[in-house]
Amino acid sequence: MAITRLACLLTLLSTHCYFSVLAVVLRTDNDSPWTNEFDKIELSCLIDSISTLNPRIEWKKIKNEGPSYVYFDKKVSGDLENRAVIREPATLVITNATRSDTAKYRCEVTAPEDLKSFDEIVIDLTVRVKPVMPKCSVPKSVPVGKSAELSCLEEEGFPKSQYQWFKSKEEIPDDPKASHMFFNSSYTLDATTGTLKFTAVRKEDAGEYFCRAKNDAGSAECPAQQMEVYDIDIMGIILGVMVVVVVLLCITVGICCAYKKGYFSGQKQAGNNYKVPSKGDGVDYVRTDDEGDFRHKSSFVI
Ligand SMILES: *[C@@H]1O[C@H](CO)[C@@H](O)[C@H](O)[C@H]1NC(C)=O
Ligand SMILES: *[C@@H]1O[C@H](CO)[C@@H](O)[C@H](O)[C@H]1NC(C)=O
Repeated sequence: MAITRLACLLTLLSTHCYFSVLAVVLRTDNDSPWTNEFDKIELSCLIDSISTLNPRIEWKKIKNEGPSYVYFDKKVSGDLENRAVIREPATLVITNATRSDTAKYRCEVTAPEDLKSFDEIVIDLTVRVKPVMPKCSVPKSVPVGKSAELSCLEEEGFPKSQYQWFKSKEEIPDDPKASHMFFNSSYTLDATTGTLKFTAVRKEDAGEYFCRAKNDAGSAECPAQQMEVYDIDIMGIILGVMVVVVVLLCITVGICCAYKKGYFSGQKQAGNNYKVPSKGDGVDYVRTDDEGDFRHKSSFVI
């Protein structure tokens, strides 16, 4: 009998030995539970076997900095205080999980009256956090044939967000060849970094783009932004026309100025000095001549 017990002690994993031995044995329903932020979650710690009447129960939170007490001396302590309770026998119930609760937790039970007087189990808790609205960057206008990069980033979500891009409300597939709508598009899409990269933009790529950040807890989108694609030739023509118009304007203004200056100063003076006297002289002479002639003639006639 004693030999059997000892054998059982040495091979504690064999289940039918648990109850025939004075040993504390723990078990959990779920060693990697998860919940969404602000929800309730149980870290189950069940006692399969124990002989001690009042075992000591402790919970520790294990982070990179090392373990810290969560439940000790029959009290919840640390940042879980007021947010967690113990449910018999040793389950820790967090009533309002926060993102900082994501960690490993260790349930430790000490039973001095048992032969095997200590057991522990580790539970890996994940608190999922919904993504917030991602920051999206879409170039306003890109010339045909040039590259373009659209980026999307969201940093609150846990686990880390994955990204989807949409053009005119249509999801952009990872592979352009997978969809008739994007068949001739030249892009690469990285769902992990949120980058949508066109190697050579086509006119057909112009449109309204938005991005969705998504994880197990939920999703969030940025508002759609327009990306224009312009023909570089048309741009050249427009620029050329604008240059011509500006040059013509300059010439016109220049001629106007020159003409005005010339008319008001140089030309008027020259006219006064030269034309008026000569004209006057001419007219006078002609008139006198004419009148004289006429008078002479008329007098002759009369
Ligand atoms: C959970 O905690 C958050 C902030 O820590 C609070 O805003 C929220 O009201 C709490 N929810 C419940 C059900 O207590
Ligand atoms: C893709 O380009 C080819 C050749 O330029 C054309 O024949 C085809 O219609 C285009 N497909 C789409 C979906 O636009």
